[in-house]
Order: sequence, then C-alpha cells, then structure tokens
Amino acid sequence: MTPFAPALSAALRTAWLGRELVCLRQTPSTNDVVMERARAGAAPGLVVIADEQSRGRGRFGRRWWSPPGGNLYLSALLPPPPSAALAPSLTLAAGVAVCDAVRALGCQAAIKWPNDVLIGGKKVAGILTETSTRGARPEAVVVGIGVDLEGELPAELAPIATTLALELGAPVDRVAFVADLLARFEEWIDRHRAEGAAPVARAWNQRSALLGRRVTAVVDGETVAGEAGELDSAVWQKLHDLGY
Ligand code: BTN
Repeated sequence: MTPFAPALSAALRTAWLGRELVCLRQTPSTNDVVMERARAGAAPGLVVIADEQSRGRGRFGRRWWSPPGGNLYLSALLPPPPSAALAPSLTLAAGVAVCDAVRALGCQAAIKWPNDVLIGGKKVAGILTETSTRGARPEAVVVGIGVDLEGELPAELAPIATTLALELGAPVDRVAFVADLLARFEEWIDRHRAEGAAPVARAWNQRSALLGRRVTAVVDGETVAGEAGELDSAVWQKLHDLGY
C-alpha cells in the first residue's frame, strides 16, 4: 500500500465503485490483477491502481507507456451486464467519464473512436476493456483506464500524446482527479444498468471528436471519404468485436 490509498479512500464519493481499493507500487498490469481477483471471487466495485506497470497493455496487444512518476493506471471490476451485447457500451461509459473528468479540470477534451480521450488532437487517456464469459454471458468485466497526468513522455510519443500537467501548465491533484473520475464513472454505470446503453451512446456522441467532420477510412481495402456520423449500437458492437 502507498500513502495514496488512504487519501483516496477518504476522498471517494462513490457508493460502491472503489470501496474495495488496492493501491500497488508496481505491477505488470492492473487489468491482470483485477481479472485474477475476479476469478478468485472479488466483488464488482474492486479498483486496483498502480504507480507503475512493467507490462502495461493497450488495445491490440500494444504496449501502454507506464513509467512511475504520477500517471494513472487504474482498473475496475464492473457488475457484469445481463447480456454480452451490453458490454461494449460500458467502454463508452468509461470514455464519457474520463472525458468529463478531464474537462472539469479546464481542458477541452473529446473522445475518438471509440475510447481514446484527446486534447487538441493529442491522446491523453486510453481505455482497455477485457471480459471473461461463461457461455454467452459476460462473467467479469474489467475496465482499465490509463491517463497521462504528469509523467514524462518519450520522444516518439510527444507528437501524438500529451499529459494533463502539460496542458494545464501545473501539476494535477491525483487524489482529487481519481475521486472525481470514479464518481462520474459510477454514475454512468448505474445509469447504464437502469436505462441501458442509449443514454451512454447519446453522451458519447455529444463528446465525439469526429462527429460532423470530414474523414477517410479504409473499408475492405478501399478508401472511402465522408462525414463522420453518430456511433450506434451496431457500429460499437462491430468495433468491440474488432478489438477496439
Ligand atoms: C489504449 O488506448 O490502447 C488502451 C490503454 C489502456 C491502458 C490501461 S492502464 C491501466 C490498465 N492496465 C493495463 O495494462 N492497461 C490499462
């Protein structure tokens, strides 16, 4: 346990998310810790945060830059949705919560396809959702969130990524940021459970970095151009199946 843990526990405003909180100095990947604990019977709401990850993962098996020094590496065990079709929209809920927590600090954040959070076109946060299933039903849903708060960026990432501290020109209060993020995330998950994916999708579309913009995409080997529209359930299911 690091001193961060008691300060965060005291600052939490959630009813269930993060009420079981594990803060580690170093771990290969917080997503793995949460999945292992889920398999061993942990209850939904468990949150694991590390100061540093030695094998932080992004989507498509990419490496997630995870040095010590103030970034956020957080994974949460969510209540499994009643059907697999509802799982992808939990990633969107996380994107909305992260985007709003970043906006609350005064940054102009937006979400891009379907779970990168950007400021001025540069990535500041990413989300990796991993699900274990029993038959067709999701059993454990682990949402991993990485936010570049104030760690150093390597030269190769500097053109495409940023940190909150760089954008704000000031250090970030990590405890206050995480407490706010978890409160927002819990609110969206509760809403998702009560009302389904539609309100989450609306909120996601309102924060989309691409909506209404000219985009080109390669579809089945052909480049197509057009205006980016709203994400609907068919599109995000397809994106989820493709590993986004
Ligand atoms: C992406 O944009 O590719 C997703 C990045 C997700 C990174 C987070 S950091 C906490 C959790 N643990 C991991 O190994 N990955 C996620």
